Amino acid sequence: MTFELHFCNIGLMVIPITKAIFPVAGLGTRFLPATKASPKEMLPLVDKPLIQYVVEEAIASGIEEIIIVTGRGKRAIEDHFDISYELEDILRQKGNGKLLAEVQKISNMLDICYVRQKEPYGLGHAILCARNLVKKEPFAVLLGDDVIDADIPALKQMLEIYHTYNAPVVAIQEVDRSQVSYYGIIKANLVGERVYRVSDMVEKPPVEEAPSNLAIIGRYLLTPDIMELLGKTRPGAGKEIQLTDALRELTKIRPVYAYQFHGTRYDAGDKFGFLKATVEFALKNKEFGKDFRQYLKTLKL
Ligand code: UTP
Repeated sequence: MTFELHFCNIGLMVIPITKAIFPVAGLGTRFLPATKASPKEMLPLVDKPLIQYVVEEAIASGIEEIIIVTGRGKRAIEDHFDISYELEDILRQKGNGKLLAEVQKISNMLDICYVRQKEPYGLGHAILCARNLVKKEPFAVLLGDDVIDADIPALKQMLEIYHTYNAPVVAIQEVDRSQVSYYGIIKANLVGERVYRVSDMVEKPPVEEAPSNLAIIGRYLLTPDIMELLGKTRPGAGKEIQLTDALRELTKIRPVYAYQFHGTRYDAGDKFGFLKATVEFALKNKEFGKDFRQYLKTLKL
């Protein structure tokens, strides 16, 4: 099959993306009461908190600097990525080198800086809180409760599309039509293998108004002009400043692409999605995956 290519930005220099924003200041209402006093991003998926999987994906994709947008009750995330002298000392004294290395690996991962979103005014507003740290550079946004299991990290796949088209890219997946009202939904034309040129998008549409069943999920590669648009965006769905609304404006001033990545995405900020991720990651675990499979077989389902 041949596809139309959009050359408008080709020829201009592609600025590499090395920074990523992790907005984690949401309230996590879908996972209450577990998230009343602790962040949903710290829920453990087998043996690591959700956010660590996503940080590892960012690093494996070449991200060098992470900006975490925090809010009230999110200190556990900062502590997780910080040095823990007492814990390291105890592990050293006990001669538990393997665990010590594991714990040290987390705090040595890469440079992380934090910025606070004072009130949860929405994902778009959270991203805007990081504008002074990303400056005039393009950047990635990753949502810490969207865990993607993929042979090639999903963000890395998207970066290839970004470099090909030299334009913003959002990750999409097909969802059942009954689910469209939970997502930002795009209107788009297929222009390459799994690549769409976006002409419009709408946040959480009723099913009869959804332009497709292609849903935006928690990975974005954005150009700095989105910050100016976010600054002008008025509260939308849920009275929050929606990234989708600013992206919609962006499609009017430059080409925006959507990429249907290879891999399985788990909405681990949702109770059922979290359970699915837990079972599937446990089954794949090198240490006890086999035993877990055996155990599941003993259940009378
Ligand atoms: P969600 O839509 O998942 O909202 O936000 P939420 O509050 O985290 O969770 P639920 O839906 O109530 O269960 C998408 C992402 O945007 C961040 C969230 O932390 C999540 O990563 N976010 C959302 C903010 O950082 N600030 C906000 O004001 C809202």
